[in-house]
Amino acid sequence: MDHFRYRDGVLCAEDVALSDIAATVGTPAYVYSTATLERHYKLFDEALGDLPHTICYAMKAASNQAILTTLARLGAGMDVVSGGEYARAKAAGVPGERIVFSGVGKTEEEIRAALTGGVKQFNVESEPELAVLSRVAAELGVTAPIALRVNPDVDARTHAKISTGKSENKFGIPISKARAVYAEAAALLGIEVVGVDVHIGSQLTELEPFEAAFTRVAELTEALRADGHDIRRLDLGGGLGIPYQNTNEAPPLPFDYGALIRRTVGHLGCEIEIEPGRLIAGNAGILLARVIYVKEGEGRRFLILDAAMNDLIRPAMYDAWHDIVPVKEPAAGAGRVTYDVVGPVCESGDTFAKARDLPELAAGDLVAFRSAGAYGAVMSSEYNTRPLVPEVLVKNDHHAVIRARPSFEEMIARDTIPAWL
Ligand code: LLP
Repeated sequence: MDHFRYRDGVLCAEDVALSDIAATVGTPAYVYSTATLERHYKLFDEALGDLPHTICYAMKAASNQAILTTLARLGAGMDVVSGGEYARAKAAGVPGERIVFSGVGKTEEEIRAALTGGVKQFNVESEPELAVLSRVAAELGVTAPIALRVNPDVDARTHAKISTGKSENKFGIPISKARAVYAEAAALLGIEVVGVDVHIGSQLTELEPFEAAFTRVAELTEALRADGHDIRRLDLGGGLGIPYQNTNEAPPLPFDYGALIRRTVGHLGCEIEIEPGRLIAGNAGILLARVIYVKEGEGRRFLILDAAMNDLIRPAMYDAWHDIVPVKEPAAGAGRVTYDVVGPVCESGDTFAKARDLPELAAGDLVAFRSAGAYGAVMSSEYNTRPLVPEVLVKNDHHAVIRARPSFEEMIARDTIPAWL
């Protein structure tokens, strides 16, 4: 459920017409609904109910300071994967004790920054990382709380590029080696073992892979406790999918995911950490764009938008589907046309949709890409020297630009020409 609806013939974000945002901010632009962000966070919170838990929003999905602040005020923790994300989380007022640090390639500088600024736990992904963490913690005279991210060799049955829990993926420590690495970790200076971490992939549309992974984590937890480790936290990662097509998709609900967590690991008495990203931000955002031209090709009609692959790369990168809807509500019985929906970038890959059946559109019309709030703006670039797409946050009848579109002058001024040139 989200808060983008037609009202008086115009698609609105909460109480703000997207046409008004296009008029003041221009297009393309991302628009987020505060109510949807908050609702999705609360769904997870309710799904975990009385289990002791922390929801560490995977901020890689959408990391604007206004979004982080919205979630932090509800009590959200953050899952960060870089020094930059750590700095953003802290700047949004998230205390270190609510930040978990994930990622296969944490640098010494990143580890040092998190140990100095405060961190709930490092999700450690390798033995070499463990060694660096131990050395840096010892140098600083502090203790690093850790969970090992285990790779349970479970097929998440999602797109290959976002599947992370199979043995061929770079992530985590093979679960078969976990007990040995935990023993090693416990003996290291500056390291305190606190939990187990797992994340098997993103956009999962079934619960079974989670069930397989969490069951393995529960077995491992019991084995580790028998080995003498005080396992008191389980970080179960993120990955719950969202519906990208209004019509026929119904991924599991947070409530059922919560019930699964209770069933598989609830008996262990651990604090549960989860790291949802997409489900919190995905349907809370749209990408607003304008039709530049309708072009008749050979046996096809192109809808050329002012948004391009640099603004929303998911279709080009994962063949992802995003519903595209006109901002002006089509009249009942209005004609429909099949379009190839494309952007202005000089690559054939700059295609959002092929042979998409849409209400008839004309140059100047506005369209919205649904479900673009997660992995949209954060993956944008300035390719073709197209200004980084701006972001707008709506709350009730207010809207504000939360990241401004840079001017050409600002973009050019970031480059420097060496004096010796
Ligand atoms: N935790 C870890 C360790 C992760 O690597 C990820 C996502 C998450 C949590 C959040 O997963 P979510 O709840 O959002 O599924 N750019 C891709 C998605 C990449 C996901 C990477 N890791 C896309 O646009 O589909």
